[in-house]
Amino acid sequence: MSADDWWKCGIVYQVYPRSFQDSNGDGIGDLDGIRARLGHLVSLGIDAVWISPIYPSPMADFGYDISDFCAIDPRFGTLDGFDALVQEAHARGIRIILDFVPNHTSDRHPWFVQSRSARSDPRRDWYIWRDPAPDGGPPNNWISNFGGPAWTFDPVTGQYYGHSFLKEQPDLNWRNPEVREAMYEVLRFWLRRGVDGFRVDVLSQIVKDAQLRDNPPNPDFVEGQDEFHRWLMLHNTDLPEVQPIVAEMRRVVDAFSDTRSSRVLIGELYLPLPRLVAYYGRNAEGVLEGVQLPFNFELIATEWQAARIRRFVRDYEAALPAGAQPNWVLGNHDKPRIASRVGPRMARLAAMLLLTLRGTPTLYYGDEIGMTDVAIPADEVQDPFEKNRPGLGLGRDPERTPMQWSADAQAGFTTGTPWLRLAADWRTNNVEAQSRDTGSMLALHRRLIALRRAQPALNRGDHEALDAGDEVLAFARNHEGQRLVVLLNFGETPAPIPPASMPHRPVVLASTDPARAEGIEGPLVLAPCEGVVIGTVDDKGPAAP
Ligand code: GLC
Repeated sequence: MSADDWWKCGIVYQVYPRSFQDSNGDGIGDLDGIRARLGHLVSLGIDAVWISPIYPSPMADFGYDISDFCAIDPRFGTLDGFDALVQEAHARGIRIILDFVPNHTSDRHPWFVQSRSARSDPRRDWYIWRDPAPDGGPPNNWISNFGGPAWTFDPVTGQYYGHSFLKEQPDLNWRNPEVREAMYEVLRFWLRRGVDGFRVDVLSQIVKDAQLRDNPPNPDFVEGQDEFHRWLMLHNTDLPEVQPIVAEMRRVVDAFSDTRSSRVLIGELYLPLPRLVAYYGRNAEGVLEGVQLPFNFELIATEWQAARIRRFVRDYEAALPAGAQPNWVLGNHDKPRIASRVGPRMARLAAMLLLTLRGTPTLYYGDEIGMTDVAIPADEVQDPFEKNRPGLGLGRDPERTPMQWSADAQAGFTTGTPWLRLAADWRTNNVEAQSRDTGSMLALHRRLIALRRAQPALNRGDHEALDAGDEVLAFARNHEGQRLVVLLNFGETPAPIPPASMPHRPVVLASTDPARAEGIEGPLVLAPCEGVVIGTVDDKGPAAP
């Protein structure tokens, strides 16, 4: 793999730092903890770690409310500790991607403290301030992503400020060039320290309508649905003005790319396909000047059926601009875990799908051992989303529980009391136990990742849809004459595979079923929920399992 396209061939692994590994017994994961667990990431075979926010924060939204963009929260460690992490990760072949949160700051950030101090403050226009509506209410009908109005009245200066999330997360005004420059300086601060890229939080929402017009009603809204869906987010999401800003961000980051290593931008974008692919930023000359990887969340959202996914893969491949790198995600810190959503057997199939589709995969910590959502009793709830809108199933604590490392006390996560309870199964379901079991979810991940690294057809080959019946998602990955076939049975019944889809002299390079033999005698029949990667005898290099 050449250094400048590591993000095309490689695999990204998301660490939610509070929950990965605690090193000092305070019950909260930290940077030294991540450093201590690099061995796990190396043995898993991933290429880059994206770490959710580690900056000083009052933790109203667990780090997504930042009070200083250029420092480390003491709960997570120190800048020296961060530098040590980058250095050691790089020495072990792992890149570091940070979370960049451009849409808002904490209300304790000095910029906001100044901004709210007086209407005449030079930083006033760094945030979005407006007079009350004639009735004294909020300036318009925008709703916060966490529920309630996206506006809070500030009695000090008699105006409202806008916030797309909590009132503790005031929105920056990206129309102001000073804000843009200050935020690009934040990117440079971390790039100079050697980080390899950024995952950019809520990228589509950073620019708001200049006139702050009301959003129109959503014709599909059904009474009783979450109020968030009452209006179409026409005037506060995905405005055309976002695109030139994305191109500016890209130029800032590209200035640090060199032939040894390119830096990458990954955009958090929950948008329908045509609007999503616009974030690759194809300009009139066909150059892609946007983010390299606009997150594709379809596998998180879609109904888990072969036909649905087949159709989406086709549409996605067709919608990608020339030269654009696809990407796939099964889970993150905001969405229910895949093993809970589709069940443990299907989660094995999902892992194979993620790791064999054309495109950069992002793996959420814990999914490699099949961690499931953990029900959090009401009096232990931490997530502000759940606190604001209780009982609707919106809370994100269930997918943020501590990593299960071993059968030691507190699953090896902490010597103290974990900030969020552990899953009930941690004594049996953990990294150590699964490392000893060749049939485990972890073993499957290691095998698939090793295969993906060893086989150019998997890490850079093209995608060719195949037909192996309705319930089977079938495709080939081709690269310079090499052809691997992936067959995934989404059905609950055995699926005979038509010989026409099989390569010549086939062998099984990987299966979700640990008992599946390598050789194929006669017609291939997949077990229910089974997935296989088929190559030919010649593909069985030393690195193949
Ligand atoms: C993103 C983050 C989420 C956070 C929100 C506000 O959606 O992924 O965790 O709450 O932005 O920053």
